[in-house]
Amino acid sequence: MTSHDVTLEWPDGRTRTVEVDENETILEAAECDGSVLPYGCRTGACGTCSGRLLEVEGTRPSNGERAGDGDADVCAVDDVVAYRRLPRALKDRHRATGYVLLCIASPRADCRIAVGSSVHSELVDNPWK
Ligand code: FES
Repeated sequence: MTSHDVTLEWPDGRTRTVEVDENETILEAAECDGSVLPYGCRTGACGTCSGRLLEVEGTRPSNGERAGDGDADVCAVDDVVAYRRLPRALKDRHRATGYVLLCIASPRADCRIAVGSSVHSELVDNPWK
């Protein structure tokens, strides 16, 4: 069975690398490893578990553009995780820029992911601005 190293990075600087099998979700693997991550529905509907890709096997996630053949240091975000079901809580533009629903996402590459409740806050429009 193939597995990948996923490094979780919290806003306070803590990091933890967990080994995630291709048939388990990043949230499941983190919990088995004793890491506490935010979650709500566990079905891809609420967005509470959102993470943001920071690096994928030495490349940076694309900024919404598909990685081109000559763009060796940029990876296509959609190739990095496989979803168990439709990630309803993420808009296409959020997925394209590296946001991932950790409750239903299984990795297809080693990667670093920003985690914590502040990531979900980035996705929600602030009504006071
Ligand atoms: S916990 Fe609700 S989308 Fe992941």
